[in-house]
Amino acid sequence: MGPLKRIFLSPPHLDGRERELLLQAFDSNWITTLGPQVDAFEAEICAMTGIGHAAALSSGTAALHLGLLMLGVRPGDEVICSDLTFAASANAIAYLGAIPVFIDSDAATWNMDPALLSKELEGCRKKGRLPKAAIIVDLYGQCADFARIIQICSSYGLPVIEDAAEALGATYNGKAAGKFGAMGIFSFNGNKIITTSGGGMLVSDDPEYVRQAKFLSTQARDPAPHYQHSHIGYNYRLSNLLAAVGRGQLARLLSKIARRKQIKELYKNTLGDIPGIEFMPDAEYGEPNHWLTVIHIDPELFGADREAVRLALEAENIESRPVWKPMHMQPVFRGCRKRGGEVAEEIFNRGLCLPSGNSLSNYDQERIIGIIKRAGRQLGQRPIIH
Ligand SMILES: Cc1ncc(COP(=O)(O)O)c(C=O)c1O
Repeated sequence: MGPLKRIFLSPPHLDGRERELLLQAFDSNWITTLGPQVDAFEAEICAMTGIGHAAALSSGTAALHLGLLMLGVRPGDEVICSDLTFAASANAIAYLGAIPVFIDSDAATWNMDPALLSKELEGCRKKGRLPKAAIIVDLYGQCADFARIIQICSSYGLPVIEDAAEALGATYNGKAAGKFGAMGIFSFNGNKIITTSGGGMLVSDDPEYVRQAKFLSTQARDPAPHYQHSHIGYNYRLSNLLAAVGRGQLARLLSKIARRKQIKELYKNTLGDIPGIEFMPDAEYGEPNHWLTVIHIDPELFGADREAVRLALEAENIESRPVWKPMHMQPVFRGCRKRGGEVAEEIFNRGLCLPSGNSLSNYDQERIIGIIKRAGRQLGQRPIIH
């Protein structure tokens, strides 16, 4: 028997329609940025999410960058940011010479803790210096607690960008992820629930933000027959070819969510009763898109720690990943202010993202479950050496 095929965490999953639309775009000769596929992709995202306007961009990071720029973030400004996230959320703040202030997670949702956010803003008001904006992340496809967060931010006049890079298709109290705050962003990076290979979207109910995003992302050309520029622009628009792939993917979003939910349920049904294994909590206020199944391992109870489980899977050519390393622990953001941090740190030390891709077979998932179970027992039976 040859070596086992690698099982990835969340590989792209194409099912035919993408190819058709891609070839249509190719044959139409609209292969650069802008074009009918881009327009249609934006319209379809709006229809799916109920958000008024959308600008298709080259990445979720580009969308965050433009969002902060449009909110007037300048060098030296402070910007609130979820601590437990991928670096892109905080990098966008740094691109503008601004300074992130990290807020810890709530253990009940793993998303930003509204109580800590409130304390931080109260402290800022006392010092007489409020942050300029907030980036609130929807972690692993689950919305943050927006009723509370938006209410807190509004009371300080703080505009919010919802970083829904991982959460397309999730809901909060019946409303779509991306709809909260002044703007929302999505990512269509290769590992996301839908992908354009690389891409992103800025969405807003305010048409002015989206108009500006389209202008800034196409080199900020003034309306003149020659090339004239009164603003610094960016080359951040999505290509028409990639938008075609995105449309094919988006058409299957609901079935992708359903499949990922099924995968999560099988993990829960088989691992949920094992002492020491818990799952990222599902908040009552919404429905996640189930992008990744994430477990939390208590080594004392389970008999093995997160790293031992990861290595046991890796030995069988199966990819799993520790939960995002919190931003306050990242060398590049050392010295940035933080509020709390212990919850995110604990989740990082014990959390493991499991293979959750749409193409994961039941057979492979059963293998993964078996390896996890055995990892616990093996280490649990190890003699204690003093
Ligand atoms: C929370 C979060 N924000 C932002 C991004 C950036 O998106 P992109 O990779 O499309 O730039 C990602 C993922 O890549 C992410 O997970």
